[in-house]
Amino acid sequence: MCGQKGGSGKTTAAIAASAELVDRGYRVLLVDADPQGSVRTWADVAAEAGHPTPTVIAMGAQMHKSGQLDEIASGYDVTVIDCPPRHGEIQRSALMIADLAVLPCGPSAVDAWALAESVELVSEAQGLRPELRATTLITRRVHGTTIGTEARKSLRNTGLPVLRSEFYARVAYQEAPAAGLGVAQYAPTDKAATEVRAFVTELLKELSRGKTKAQDRRKKTASGRKRRRA
Ligand SMILES: Nc1ncnc2c1ncn2[C@@H]1O[C@H](COP(=O)(O)OP(=O)(O)O)[C@@H](O)[C@H]1O
Ligand SMILES: [Mg+2]
Repeated sequence: MCGQKGGSGKTTAAIAASAELVDRGYRVLLVDADPQGSVRTWADVAAEAGHPTPTVIAMGAQMHKSGQLDEIASGYDVTVIDCPPRHGEIQRSALMIADLAVLPCGPSAVDAWALAESVELVSEAQGLRPELRATTLITRRVHGTTIGTEARKSLRNTGLPVLRSEFYARVAYQEAPAAGLGVAQYAPTDKAATEVRAFVTELLKELSRGKTKAQDRRKKTASGRKRRRA
């Protein structure tokens, strides 16, 4: 979860998705890359309350170096990184190791315009790592307004795809972390839970699509090599 702007919903999405993945039986590593440490505080609250949690570790701008996050993440099915706002060096490091960058964005056109700097960071990383995929996620949508539709339109101009799942502005998103839970576990019958489940299902689909593409690329390179050898 990345993006230069504070308050766009990165930590909320990171915690909600990680808790939902744990609930589905995945081995999840949640990396708190924000010096503010909200994810670590959430994990402490969760552990104290005896709730199942992902493994939480803190990492910074060196996480992409060989023997760091790659080494630890190999023991897990999914790794979620919660990036800090600003701190470009930490975001760059995360983008050097991630398969998929998710950029949460508030619901207005102004929120979407403010994403330009973050999109720039992602494009820079994609220049070095063409396999890095990126997508935006609309958060804090407001019912019965055009806000949200506006963001979707403006986000299309950034050149990044927009996830079909969206998070509406709901109290459950704000309450769940204080209870040491993910939203879908805190309020399983709330619409927020439906949104988070849809988000996680879409993320898993995106990640497996990325893997298939990478495998195809490897196969093509291997068959090219064979042809060249022949
Ligand atoms: N969908 C949502 N509905 C209601 N409040 C939200 C939602 N997403 C985030 N928030 C609230 O917005 C604030 C900023 O969210 P946060 O996830 O901490 O952003 P970031 O990590 O990008 O700085 C928090 O108080 C959080 O509870
Ligand atoms: Mg945060």
